[in-house]
Order: sequence, then C-alpha cells, then structure tokens
Amino acid sequence: MLSGLAQVREGTTDLLVPESYTRKGPGTRTGEVFYNKQMEFGRDISVMLGRVIFSEGQRILDGLAATGARGLRLANECGVRADFELNDRDIRAAVLMKQNAELNSLGHVRVNCRDLRCLLAEEQFDYIDIDPFGTPVDFIDSAVQSCRNNGVIAITATDTAPLYGTYPKTCFRRYGSTSARSPFAHETGLRILIGFVVREAAKHDRAAEPLLCYHADHYFRCNLRIRNGAARADAAIKKLGFIGFTRSTLSRTADTARASDKDAGPLWLLELSSKEVLKDMKATGDLGTSVRCGRILDVWRDEADMPPLYYGMDELARKTKLAPPKLVEFIEYLRDKGARASKTHFDPKGLKTDLEASELLEHYRKYHKKR
Ligand SMILES: C[S@@+](CC[C@H](N)C(=O)[O-])C[C@H]1O[C@@H](n2cnc3c(N)ncnc32)[C@H](O)[C@@H]1O
Repeated sequence: MLSGLAQVREGTTDLLVPESYTRKGPGTRTGEVFYNKQMEFGRDISVMLGRVIFSEGQRILDGLAATGARGLRLANECGVRADFELNDRDIRAAVLMKQNAELNSLGHVRVNCRDLRCLLAEEQFDYIDIDPFGTPVDFIDSAVQSCRNNGVIAITATDTAPLYGTYPKTCFRRYGSTSARSPFAHETGLRILIGFVVREAAKHDRAAEPLLCYHADHYFRCNLRIRNGAARADAAIKKLGFIGFTRSTLSRTADTARASDKDAGPLWLLELSSKEVLKDMKATGDLGTSVRCGRILDVWRDEADMPPLYYGMDELARKTKLAPPKLVEFIEYLRDKGARASKTHFDPKGLKTDLEASELLEHYRKYHKKR
C-alpha cells in the first residue's frame, strides 16, 4: 500500500483514498485528493440508477472524479459494457484514479486530466456526472451542449445555503432565481436547481426532464434527461413558475405566474422523478447503504404523484399547539378521510397532501380530539 493512502470498499469496488480523510472527518478539504465516505449513499443511488438507464456502447463520464469513486463504481457495478471515463484537472487525482482503476481490474477505463469545460467543449457523452465543490453552475452550460440526444446529466449541488433561502442574493446571482426561507425550503432549493438546468438547456433548443432529483444530507442531486427539440424546450419552460408561502396560515401556492415579489422562483413546478425509472430501480444487498436505499426508494415511489410543497409535522404542531401524532398514523387517517397523503423524502417528519393548508389543519385538530 502506498504511504498516506488507506483502502476502503464501497459496494463491490475497492478504493485507495487519502488516509487523512479518516483523521480529519468526512468531506474535509485537506489539500489532498478529495474523498467523502458519507457520499457512499449518493454513489449507491447512482449505481442503482445506472443499472436502469445505461446501455451498451454509451460514453459515460465522471467529470469531476477525484479518487474515481463514483465513475469506477459505475464501471464496476452497473453490469453494462460501455465506455467509462474519468476526469479531474488535479494530476494527483488522475494518478490515484488510475491506480484505483487497476486495483479493480478496470484498466480499460480512460483517465483524463483536463479542465472539465475543455473536455466537454471537444467531446460528447451519453452521461455526464458533475460533482463539484459547492455550486455546479460553472459546468451546466458546457454539460448541456456536450450531452448527446437522450443522454443524462447528473448534478450535485452542495451550496445549500443560497438554495434554502439563507442567502437569496447569492441564489439570484448564481441561478437567476429568488430563493426564500420556509418550512419546505429543501423542496424549493431542489426545484430552483432543476429550473436553472431547464433554462440552460432551453438556450440550446433542448429540454431537460427529471429522471431522479432529490435532496439528501447536505446536498441536492439532479439526474436529468436531455432531449433535442425547440418545442420540447418550450414545453419544459412552461413547467416553470413561482412558489408563495403565507406564514400566518401555512398556505402554499405554486403557479406559473408570480403573485408577489416575495415568491420564490422561477423554479420547476412538476415531477421530480420518472415513475418508470423508480419502478425499475432496486436496492440490492451488495450496496453498502442498501437499507437506506430501499427506504428512500419506497418514499420516492410514494410521493412521485403528489402535488408539490410538503408540510412538516412540527409546523402543524406549532400552529395548533397540539403535539405531533405518529406520522404514518396521521397519513392513514388523512387517506381514510378521502385525501391524498404520503411521506416525503425531504423531511422524515414531513408529509405531502392534496389538501389546502386550512383543511389539513382542520383534520389535524380533529385527529387530536378523536384520540
Ligand atoms: C467534490 S470533488 C469530487 C468528488 C468525487 N466525485 C467523489 O465521488 O468522490 C471535486 C473535484 O473536482 C475537481 N475539479 C474542480 N474544478 C475542476 C475543473 N474545472 N475541471 C476538472 N476538475 C475540476 C477537483 O480537483 C476535485 O477533485
């Protein structure tokens, strides 16, 4: 083993990573090649998705690969004979990912050491993974142009504070959208990110369509299919709009028109995932976080058809001054009353429903009386 490196295993892939990641804590920028064990869950999800969407002969790029963790796992664990490539402009990363490729008998995986934007300007891919430090905005335009028709771009964003509404001015500069603090800010942030990609794609007469978009831990992740056509791009643009929130009543609005300058947007109003993709994804036992993957998959399927903008049980409890009931039982109660209701992956204590806020609060109070 080379000095300064430790060997870890994710799924069925072995990885040499800087030893310091074990000492300095997860995700710390130590000046060495980056590795964050906490992101194993997100990489497990990428493997699950890759198994559904990749096909033979495609060009699949991990554009900001660091140790190569995600790209090598896709090459090793998706069971598809495609051309897998890794890229990082840091030469130490390129050397390490080459070693990691050999460690897993993946010597055929091509390793690039370039600025990602240059690589994307010259070559075309069917899948482009963008997992930067912080915001992905630097890379979206070049990724949209480099992506082949019906290809996929997979984007991570860890600049959560602007997207959650803590720094709305930063959000506006980066994404051209106003963010706003609210009890459902995780969902607003994700929808702003999707809306940004939709507009970037539309500039090139292309549509970006959500395959699997979610929030987890400290990041947002969007997997979007890119399809050619000005009419499709126009149709995608029509799915953008604005979100309003009235704190005194908890009421939420989602509309294509902006009702107030306090509204968040423009942002994506419709589906966050494709039901067909969710149906085919499987949380298999070889994945290190398979239990968590299985649980989130169930919730994604449950909430796939629900209208936007979840409610937090804490929010309902504060408003009514009544302690929150068990989430699952309250959801069952709402369904018995003829409403649509589901859990949401955005918040373990959150729910989605087609009820208006006033109706939901009425049910909440009645549920308490009944108990
Ligand atoms: C957060 S790390 C990637 C982590 C990796 N995807 C994983 O799953 O472990 C971001 C990487 O992007 C690289 N990077 C930053 N800007 C770049 C650019 N313009 N072109 C190529 N690589 C770049 C950095 O050197 C760093 O290794």
